[in-house]
Amino acid sequence: MALILGIETSCDETAAAVVSDAKEIRANIVLSQTAEHLPYGGVVPEIAARAHLNHIESVIGQALGKADARLSDMDAIAATGGPGLIGGVIVGVMTAKAIASVAGKPFIAVNHLEGHALTVRLTNDVAFPFLLLLVSGGHCQFLIVEGVGRYQRLGGTVDDALGECFDKVAKMLGLPYPGGPAVEKLARQGNEHAYAFPVPMKGREGCDFSFSGLKTAVRQAVREMSGAGYQASDEKDTSVSRQPSPDTRIADLCSSFQRAAAESLCDRAKNAIRLFRERCPQGTAFILSGGVAANQYLRGRLEKTTRGFGMELIAPPVALCTDNAAMIAWAGIERFRLGMVDGLDFEPKARWPLAF
Ligand code: KG4
Ligand code: ZN
Repeated sequence: MALILGIETSCDETAAAVVSDAKEIRANIVLSQTAEHLPYGGVVPEIAARAHLNHIESVIGQALGKADARLSDMDAIAATGGPGLIGGVIVGVMTAKAIASVAGKPFIAVNHLEGHALTVRLTNDVAFPFLLLLVSGGHCQFLIVEGVGRYQRLGGTVDDALGECFDKVAKMLGLPYPGGPAVEKLARQGNEHAYAFPVPMKGREGCDFSFSGLKTAVRQAVREMSGAGYQASDEKDTSVSRQPSPDTRIADLCSSFQRAAAESLCDRAKNAIRLFRERCPQGTAFILSGGVAANQYLRGRLEKTTRGFGMELIAPPVALCTDNAAMIAWAGIERFRLGMVDGLDFEPKARWPLAF
């Protein structure tokens, strides 16, 4: 049995995990830096790098403790080698390399996106090839996953990633960072037809996305709401009025935004499925992964679309959608089994596409 220590430091989570090739997550420690970044409404790279440096050792210690394992029990040490905020990636890679060299273990540099892509093979039995919609804070793309390290890109966003768009909409509304969970929660109480936001790229050929137009439409609606007396804060409007209350309007806005985003994903998914079917007639799985895959409404909408095409939608459990180190350890296992290890001269990468 192979055991791998995985380290993730590419954004604002300092994480370490121990995973076995028998798909057992022995430990999965995620230390979120949300509180450190909260006053700034987004991730501040310098603060993130310093926080990773301060916490990485203790997070790794906790993971080994929880797994009841020692470094000498590991078969390899895997760390996110990019893409991401370079200061954080450097901290993770340097730590992993130091451990690997002291313990005499192989080092494996994992592409963060490959971590998201392969998580479903840890949590479910999914065979290659499969169709992947990867939606996170920095990425939004369709890929055919043919195997470990073998990706075909079908399309992606020409501007903002969807997670980024959720975060910006949340910021406009004075909601806390990260915006995705806050918007999803409020959207549950709103009317998704209250605002007729444009559905980006609807009916267009291909598998690309664009979310900047939708973001601008939401910004315009927020401005109009402000003009109508809404104050972007948590002040409650206590006046008696027949107009919807500010809270209702914010919920309606979140709900309508989320609906437009979902319709865009579903519309683009239809094209991606057709292309996938042409290229890989034997494939049946549609995988949704990345932080935005935690969104239950989007999952539900995409499930209906994929079912209509006879494909099964599979998404990892919520805790493994957002950034974590179990996915890095698992991708490390997949690579280790194929003999794909890296040298200690590997250079951390801010940009690292899975496919062009
Ligand atoms: O994969 P991830 O943890 O980090 C990146 O690799 O980017 O994704 C983080 C993104 C953030 O933009 C966050 O707002 C979004 O995922 N997100 C969500 C939800 N939970 C996290 N977006 C929509 N609905 C959610 N429930
Ligand atoms: Zn991620």
